[in-house]
Amino acid sequence: MDKLIIEGGVRLVGTTEVSGSKNSLLPILAATLLTKDKCIIRNAPDLRDTLSMLRILRFLGLNTDFKENTITIRPNGLEKFEAPYKLVSTMRASFCVLGPLLARYKKAKVSLPGGCIIGVRPVDLHLKGLSKLGAKLQVKEGYVFAEAKRLQGDHIYLGGPFGSSVLATGNVMMAATLARGTTVIESAACEPEVVDLARFLIKMGAKIKGEGSPTIEIQGVKELHGVDYEIIPDRIEAATLIMAAAVTRGEVLVKRARAEHLTAVLEKLKDVGVTLKNVKEGIFVKGTMRKFKPFDIVTLPYPGFPTDAQAQFMTLMSITEGISVITEKIYPDRFMHVAELNRMGAQIKREGPYAIVHGVKFLSGAPVMASDLRASAGLILAGLVARGKTEVSRIYHLDRGYEQLDAKLKKLGARIERVKE
Ligand code: UD1
Repeated sequence: MDKLIIEGGVRLVGTTEVSGSKNSLLPILAATLLTKDKCIIRNAPDLRDTLSMLRILRFLGLNTDFKENTITIRPNGLEKFEAPYKLVSTMRASFCVLGPLLARYKKAKVSLPGGCIIGVRPVDLHLKGLSKLGAKLQVKEGYVFAEAKRLQGDHIYLGGPFGSSVLATGNVMMAATLARGTTVIESAACEPEVVDLARFLIKMGAKIKGEGSPTIEIQGVKELHGVDYEIIPDRIEAATLIMAAAVTRGEVLVKRARAEHLTAVLEKLKDVGVTLKNVKEGIFVKGTMRKFKPFDIVTLPYPGFPTDAQAQFMTLMSITEGISVITEKIYPDRFMHVAELNRMGAQIKREGPYAIVHGVKFLSGAPVMASDLRASAGLILAGLVARGKTEVSRIYHLDRGYEQLDAKLKKLGARIERVKE
């Protein structure tokens, strides 16, 4: 297992570039099950989650080739429709093979993904949507058994207790592309990754309208064909790189960061005092030399403030004198990083879905443990600003979703080393 050793206190300066979006890529890989043709996906980030998804696709009878951020997928005629626990349990997004398998082969057996450290994470909305399309679903022995002669379009409300669901919207939208008639998804997720998936499907020949809004309409077609598609840059990685420049009061050009995907994040940073400029290549960040101003955030479905940037903002709040409050409305238990930041001298109290942060003058380097993907990013940012040495262990979480974040930070001047534990 690798860990990161960070010597804090360096202002980051220079140019960096955002990789392709993990959360776009994973459902898009599942969507390749919808066609008999070859698909090419460009700008694919080289991540542990990417490799896990490709393993599932190979198990399901596809040939995969992954070179220099380009993935080529060719069906090998095997037509398998069972995704086992061993493969699905490593990553929740793999549950997205259910919709495409069902649409294509009329039956599927997919393991339930189970919970994870950031919360219970049920799949009831996925199942509700697919059953509205006419699938007969049975949950037994930890698997979903699904069957449908042919899926039939319907009017589906996909809102849950925490609002819309990104992957449930994707799963149902994929299944509906090959259903008979028209499907309308209401309370659909509006995230840019859902839009990217819709565009991928449209390029395959699907008829979809309204992507990016809470109402998506899908008119079923008989079949979909192969595509060559480039996925969008990762907005959460962009936010993390921008934050790294902001917390170290550096000056960084973050190439390929798209301001239109980051409005809630950028507005907050401007309020705090960070200078941000949209330029042709991306976003230029200049950290303020003045004191940061305390602020509050409430995580919400897009275009609200993203839960995936919550841990990174908690680090910023920790070094912002005054009181800042986080309200976590997507995953009320996503606070594993609180204890670790407190070990570095932060003063954060958790009360249910709230974190109350009393900003301190400085953080001190300490050994800390990453608990999940975005928590690792928050801890790395803390290491970059802390006085002294921080060791972040269990960074396999980081490698699930960030393409060489440590190498990118190092190129900007950070004193960060990856070592074997
Ligand atoms: C996706 C992202 C993840 C991000 C999350 C919220 C991917 C691969 N992952 O995860 O990085 O943190 O969106 O922006 O795209 N829920 C239900 N029933 C369901 C499904 C979800 O109640 O059937 C709840 C969840 O527990 C959560 C909320 O809805 O509280 C939103 O979850 P959802 O949008 O589904 O998250 P994911 O799509 O799994």
